[in-house]
This record gives sequence, structure tokens and C-alpha cells, in this order.
Amino acid sequence: MKKTWLIAATVFCELIFCAISALPLDHRLRAPSPSFGAQSPADSVRAAEDGLALTPPMGWYPWNIFGEEPQNEKLIKEIVDALVSSGLKEAGYSYVGPDEGICFYRGDDGLLTSNLERYPSRLRGLGDYIHRKGLKYALYTDAGSRTCSKAMPGTKDHEFEDMRRFAEWRADYIKIDWCNTEGQDIVKTYTTLRDAQRAAGRPVIHSLCSWGEGYPWRWAAAVGHLWRTTGDICAPGQADWGQAMEIASANEKLSDFAGPGHWNDPDMMIVGMPGVSDTQNRTFFSLWCLMAAPLIAGNDLRSMSESTVETLTNFEAIAVDQDPLGVQGKIVRTEGAISLWAEKPLFDGSQAVLVHNQGRHPAKKRVSWTEIGIDGAAPRYVRNLWTHETTGPLPGGITVDVAPGDVAMLRVSEKNDFPMPPILMADSYLVSLRSTGSASQQLTGTITITNKGSAEIPPWRVGEVLPSWLTVTVMRKGKSQTFTNTISTAGLKKGLYHAVVRADNTEPVSGRPMSTLYYDVDLEVTQDVSGPSR
Ligand code: GLA
Repeated sequence: MKKTWLIAATVFCELIFCAISALPLDHRLRAPSPSFGAQSPADSVRAAEDGLALTPPMGWYPWNIFGEEPQNEKLIKEIVDALVSSGLKEAGYSYVGPDEGICFYRGDDGLLTSNLERYPSRLRGLGDYIHRKGLKYALYTDAGSRTCSKAMPGTKDHEFEDMRRFAEWRADYIKIDWCNTEGQDIVKTYTTLRDAQRAAGRPVIHSLCSWGEGYPWRWAAAVGHLWRTTGDICAPGQADWGQAMEIASANEKLSDFAGPGHWNDPDMMIVGMPGVSDTQNRTFFSLWCLMAAPLIAGNDLRSMSESTVETLTNFEAIAVDQDPLGVQGKIVRTEGAISLWAEKPLFDGSQAVLVHNQGRHPAKKRVSWTEIGIDGAAPRYVRNLWTHETTGPLPGGITVDVAPGDVAMLRVSEKNDFPMPPILMADSYLVSLRSTGSASQQLTGTITITNKGSAEIPPWRVGEVLPSWLTVTVMRKGKSQTFTNTISTAGLKKGLYHAVVRADNTEPVSGRPMSTLYYDVDLEVTQDVSGPSR
């Protein structure tokens, strides 16, 4: 019954939105019109089905700092190692992989094949490396005939075989660019790519990258999980503060369209790039968190200053971005150079608030409780998310001093308690087992998921669809839960076996579903095994 509804809703969306591609398109649109109405509930279909990206994806992509040329297996692996050792993994950053940069070719058989000069372990080998580190694998492609620099093939006319190939490489996230798409209908194209992904049978986040072209916020929740709202934030290696602030301003106007499983994407971050000051890092990160933007770092993780690490791993700011309600905050008042951002309710009933001073002089700003839409009579506690200090209870409001270019990022609550939502870290996303000999064996491999949030979460519920050779049990120990994967080889023929395990959970304070967890189990059977045949 539920499934029938989902299919019907999808068809409905397609019928309604096929007209949109006929709108005049402005290449890499900069300032989208704020006047479009909100999406209908049917638009959340894709996330409702796969449970992916129920909070904004966090990770790293190479484009902002490196551009195309230096990308290769060695570099990506070094970045992966730095992501782990710097503490970014612990703070929730997980999706990582190459952007445009000759990763693959199209062979004479029409199928994609890894560029072995740059990726000697092949793209599947890189995926396994990333999964073993407890991270998720991100790849890049284009919906047109070629990628932007024309150096790599696009998916046009190869949608189904390419999504199958990305699934074989074990991608968890695919950024799909919109270059070289002349004459293509944008809604139909991205819808075909969604269908191709479903046919490939692997749950993958689709990150649509049309720079606002085709007004993706109007229709893309049904076909993807996030969509770029603007042009590129910078040319590779050259952070541009003015451009970043223009992008924030354009993205701010689209707050009605974001929510769990479907996010406005104002592009990768410039935090930690050369030329960006510590104050700018803090301001940028605060704006992205208030906007519930995907937190995709774009700096060189191998050479970060302490202050950059501190900014990117500020758990209290990340908690605002990763809040389970998934509301995108907005500007509620502008006075001269001061903008007041609010309307960002959080899962425990508190509110996130940001005062941004874009002027050249220090500013004092009174934030009244009524101004941010909360009962003015009740005194509130205020947590400063950068100094990590709490004040209160304060009746009526708070006065903050904000240095030029800086922000005051606050959390306002009735209680003197500021809980953290779940932030997850995996020890691995790949169980890899091998049986030897012809006698049947029981093999086990574990995956442990640790929650860095404040509340314990209930046990993960493992999906029912598992192959007959695999059973999974979940044990909770404090903030960690261990999935024990037991494999019985009885009756299996020699060969390679693979399963994707799905697990669901609920955030206990808000009762909202948490992003679904997926991991891979590989089994190699080296000889036919005795026992009842399967
Ligand atoms: C587009 C995207 C960028 C990057 C480049 C690669 O410009 O917007 O983020 O992926 O393509 O060429």
C-alpha cells in the first residue's frame, strides 16, 4: 500500500514538474528569485524511501583547493588519513572522494573504466580503502555528454550502465554536474539518473549540481538529496570572500525548500583556504550551520592550522547544522551592517540565533526574545557556541558585542541544558570475510557505530532483507553499538558474495527518524562448501 503511494506520488511529481524545464535558464544563476512557494509533501519521496541525508551531508571534496590536476589515489588517501587523524571524522565528516579530475574513461564496450595511471587500485579499491576507514565514498560525474572540462565522459545516454558501475565501485554519494547538457530537459535527466540508481540497487545520495539552473529547489527533492543553489563559490585555490557572502545571501532566500533528506547546497566550504582569516572562517562556518547547509570541507586537510581544525570541529556549531528537525534558518532583521538570523528551532525546543556584523566597526546588538519569535516573558539561558559559555537566566533578551566581520552564534533555551543531537562515527563500513576449505564454517565480523551526541540512541533496527548466509545482531554498550555479522557458509558454492546491510533508528529527544545506516559485507568462498545447497 505504502509502496503504491510512493510510486503514485513520484509520477505526480514528474507530471507537475516536467513543465519547469521550459523556464528560461540563466547559466550558473547567481541570485535565485525568493518568490517560489514551498514544495508539496510528496516531494520528500526519495528520502522517505532510502532514509539518506536526513541531516545535511558532511564530508570533503577536492575542488575548492585543488581543482582538477593534482587529484589522484595518493592524494585522496592522504586526505582520508588526515580526515581521520585531525578529528574531523569524529566530528561527523564522512563523505569523501574525487571531484572532476580524470578518474575514469569510457571503454569501447561503453562501460566506465578506472584511470589506472591516477588510480592504480582502481576506483573500487579506493572505495574499499575509504570504507575500511569508517568513511563514505563520494564520486563525481556529469549529466551531460562530457564533464565541465570535457576530460571525462558524462552519463548522457549511459545513465543505467554508469549508475551500475558506480554501484560496483561502491559509491555512497555522487555529485552530478550539469555541464555540456545542451538540449537536455533538466528534470527528466535527473529523474532518469534517480531511476538508474534505483535499478542499480545501491542506496546513494545524489548531489545535483546545476548551480541553480532549472530552479532545482522546486522539484529536486523527489529525485535527489541536495542541490546547488548558486554558481561556484571560488575558482580552485582562490577563495573569494565577496562571492561567498553573495552565495550565502542567495541561499538564505530559499529556506522554505530545505528539510530532512532534501537540502539547499550553497557549495563546498572555503574554511581553511589560503587568504581566509580566522574570523572569516568562524563567520562562514556559522552561516553554513545556521542554513543547515551540507558541510563539505574544501581545504587541504593535510596542512590545517589549529584554528581551522577548531572551527571545522566545533561540535556546538555542528549540532545546529545537524539538528534532526532540519530547519534552514533565515535573516529576520537587518539593521545597517548587522543581520539577525533566527527561525532555526532545534530538536530540544531551543533556538539557534546568529548576529552577523558585516560592517567595519564593532557593534552592540540587543537581541530581544520577541524579535526571535519566542515568548518575551520567560527568562532564557543563552549558550555562546564559540566561547562555549552559558549566561542566564536572562529576562527579555541579550545584548551582544560583535567585532567587525564577526558573528555571535547563540543557542537560546528555557533550560540550562544544551543537549547534542546524534553525531555518528563508524570504525568501518566494510566487513570482509573469506572462507577456506570445503567444511562449513561460521565466520564473524563486526562494525561499531559510536554516537558523539549527548543522549544514548535506541538499538539500530536491522532491515529484514538479508541473504540466507548472513545474520546480524546489534549490541549496545554506552554510546556505541556493535553490529555482529555472522556468516554461515554451509552449502555455498565457490564465489564472491555481497550484501548491503540497512539499519534504521530514531533520535530519542525529537522522535525523528535518523539517517539510515548502510554498510557492505563481502564474503569470498574459495571452495564449494558441503551442507544443504542454497
Ligand atoms: C562545476 C562545479 C564545481 C566542480 C567543477 C568541476 O563547476 O560546480 O563544484 O565540480 O564543475 O569541473
